[in-house]
This record gives sequence, structure tokens and C-alpha cells, in this order.
Amino acid sequence: MDRRNFLKISGTASSAICLGLAACQWKEKFRLENIPDEEKIKIGIIGVGGRGLSILEALKNVPEIKVIAICDLFDFRLKNADDFLTHKVRKFKDFNNMLDMKELQAVIIATPLSEHFRMVMAALDRNLHVLCEKALAYSIDQCMAIKQKASCVNKIFQISYQYQLNPMFNAIKQIIDKGYCGRIMRVEGTWDRNGSWRRKLPDPAIVPEVSPAQLERIINWRLYKEYSGGLIAELGSHQFNMIDNILGAHPLKAVGTGGIDYWKDGRETFDNVHVLFDYPNGVKVGFHSGTSNKYEGFQMKFYGDKATIVTQAMDKAFIYPEDQSMDNTDWQKEVDSVTGASIKIIDKDKKRTIKPVEDNNIIFPTDNFYYNTTWLLYKNFAAAINGKKQLLLGLNEGYQSGISVHIANMAIHNNETTFWKPEYDSI
Ligand SMILES: NC(=O)c1ccc[n+]([C@@H]2O[C@H](COP(=O)([O-])OP(=O)(O)OC[C@H]3O[C@@H](n4cnc5c(N)ncnc54)[C@H](O)[C@@H]3O)[C@@H](O)[C@H]2O)c1
Repeated sequence: MDRRNFLKISGTASSAICLGLAACQWKEKFRLENIPDEEKIKIGIIGVGGRGLSILEALKNVPEIKVIAICDLFDFRLKNADDFLTHKVRKFKDFNNMLDMKELQAVIIATPLSEHFRMVMAALDRNLHVLCEKALAYSIDQCMAIKQKASCVNKIFQISYQYQLNPMFNAIKQIIDKGYCGRIMRVEGTWDRNGSWRRKLPDPAIVPEVSPAQLERIINWRLYKEYSGGLIAELGSHQFNMIDNILGAHPLKAVGTGGIDYWKDGRETFDNVHVLFDYPNGVKVGFHSGTSNKYEGFQMKFYGDKATIVTQAMDKAFIYPEDQSMDNTDWQKEVDSVTGASIKIIDKDKKRTIKPVEDNNIIFPTDNFYYNTTWLLYKNFAAAINGKKQLLLGLNEGYQSGISVHIANMAIHNNETTFWKPEYDSI
């Protein structure tokens, strides 16, 4: 971003109170580009539930994009979206009608997993740029069909694995790429929560569109197989995407286990899953996700023959050398200059913190990590459409993680070793 081309955001008192002093300092630094309306990318959003609203919030700070339409099954969701919009938009209940709008250039798909395929295909039929939420699609066949079609359409296709744009992740990747951890032979990922994942239903009176029984399934779609790939698709796929990027490879096979072990509440998707992937060169990758203990929360561990990296939540990471070879200050200096990360000794044991070096080309709008990564994704989507930056997190990476989700779920559900078939790479 060019600082000179930015106008200062006028911060409101309420946002200052909400975000606190640190955020105010960020706001002081942040600048918004003044882009004429006719140059903005005209976009529509399908699905304005939880994620759709976060996207609308992030787009307030992406002046390259103008939301001109939103679509949802439910009137109450379309109405909720008003609080996140700064101008009037057209509202639709049928996504095909929205996609037919002549002015539309791009679409964001933020609906349950089972809906992604037909929406993506309809958008590609209309030659639109697409930003689809993860995971790519509900089955391997659907993922393959999307990859085939999207590869033939000369449009930007991005998949929302925004956590990879986290500066901490970049720092970790560069430390590993430079060989400071040695040869990585094992990765362990965990994304655990302590909660049912069940959402409170709205009053059926405000949702006359569906029966109460349908309402439960549509609102709590993550708990039902008809719509969802469960914890593996919703949480695991983010980590699979990051791990593939770090290892520069996709899994070769998977074994796994899982069950509805804790929440005996009529759900169909497993509440406790564990998968183990084999990657090339003997690398083993484990992932666990459960809903009855959040001690580890989100954590990733990369085990190399020289050092181990352990993340804590998504914004902290530590490196533990195997021996004292990392104690000399030269090494720290070198890491600073070549990797975009600094490593600080914080205790007398082996633990050192990893700190991403601030990128002066990026000014984040807030100090909220979750907000910033989604914002960065949309900045990149817009820049790629405008031909100004290379697309990050495109079709190939999203496709790869989509297939990993399905081979993991097949291994877990069918109790069998599931292989990455050569045909998955053939398109
Ligand atoms: N990238 C991330 O970090 C992240 C975070 C949360 C959710 N997600 C993804 O976003 C997607 C949506 O998740 P969510 O939590 O917002 O779910 P949600 O249930 O809160 O919202 C989905 C919305 O889609 C609407 N919808 C469903 N079918 C539709 C149809 N045929 N036409 C129009 N609207 C339809 C629903 O009414 C609902 O409002 C999922 O794919 C999920 O995996 C991604």
C-alpha cells in the first residue's frame, strides 16, 4: 500500500471505546484509499450469517470493493446485515437472481459447505470472480469439478484460508524454509474447544420460511452430515492448508478415528476426531479436534531434527532448539535479517519467542488479529482482480485442502486407510 494515497479514517468515539487505546493508536496509523465509485469492484455476498457479517465488517476497510447485493434464505439475516452496511444494497433470497445482476463482477460465497458447489458453478457460468469460504466443496467429485471448471475460466478464484496470511505464520514458514528447524519429520495440530457447537435457534415466528424442524437443521448445519464435513472440514481444513504450505506437499494417505462421544444430543457429525496423515519423505502429520476440553485450543507443533516450533493460539509461537547450537547471537541476527522473524531468548531454558518483523508495507486497520487476517485476504482478492498483486490462497491450495478434508473424513468414518489417488492430481 502506498501511504501517500491514503486518507485518514475518522475514528468514532464508539469504536474507540470498543477497541481500546491500542486500537486507537492503530487507527491513527491506518489510512483508507479514496477510490471513485466507478472503479470499485462490484460484489455480491451469498450467505450473511456469522461469517458473512464478519466479511461485511472487514470490507468496510477495503475501499477497492463495493458490496452491491446480498443474498440469504432468511429475511431476518438480510435485516441483520443492515448494521454492517454503510450504504443501500439490493437484497435477494434466490442466489441465481443475484448472480444475474449485470453490474456484478465478483461474488463471495459464505454459505454452509453443502451449498458451495452449486453456487460456485453458477458464479463461474456467469464469468464472475469468486471468493469461496473453506472448505472448497462437500465431496471429492465436487472439488474436482470445480477445479476443472475454474481452471478454464480466466477469473480470480480465492478460498478463505485467511489464517495463513497471519504474519506469525509467515515468520514460522520462513524459519522452517531457511532450515533452522532442520528436517521436519512430524507435525501435530490441535483445534479443541469446550462447547457444544450448537447455536441458539431464533424465535420460529421470525422465520416463517421454514418449519421448526428444518430451522434446527439449517441453523445448526455444522452438526448434520447433509450439510457439513464436521470438525475436519470446519477447523481441520485451516491447519491442513497451513501444513501443506509449510511442507510443500499434500498428504499421501490417512487413517483416523472419531465418534459422537460426548454430546449425545442428536447430532450426526463427530464431536471428537483424530486423523493421521502420511506425507512424502516419511513425514507424519496428526490432527485432533474435540469439543469437551480446550486446554490446547488452537495449536500447531513442527518437529525438526534441529528445533521444534510450537504455536500458542494463532498469534504466539516459540522455538525450542534440540541443543545449544542456537544460543549464539549471530544466529539470532541472521534470522532477523533473512526470515522476516526475530527470535528472542525469554528464559534460561530452551524456549525462545518468535516475533514477526513488522512489514512496513502493511498497515492493519485494527489490532484484532481475526479481523486483520480477513481484511488482508480481501485486500489481496481486490489487488489480484485489479492485476496489482499476485493472488494468495488460490484454487490449487484450496483444492488440495478440500481433498485432504475428504480423505480424512473417509478414513475416520469408514475406519480404513484412505489414499490420495493420482487422479486427484490429474486436473
Ligand atoms: N474462514 C473462516 O475463518 C470461517 C469462519 C466461519 C465460517 N466459515 C465458513 O463460512 C461458511 C458459512 O459459515 P457461517 O458460520 O457463517 O454459517 P451461518 O449458518 O452462520 O451462515 C450461513 C448463511 O447462509 C445462508 N444460506 C444457507 N443456504 C443458502 C442458500 N441456498 N441461499 C442463500 N443463503 C443461504 C443461511 O441462511 C445463513 O444465513 C461456511 O462454509 C464456513 O465453513 C469460515
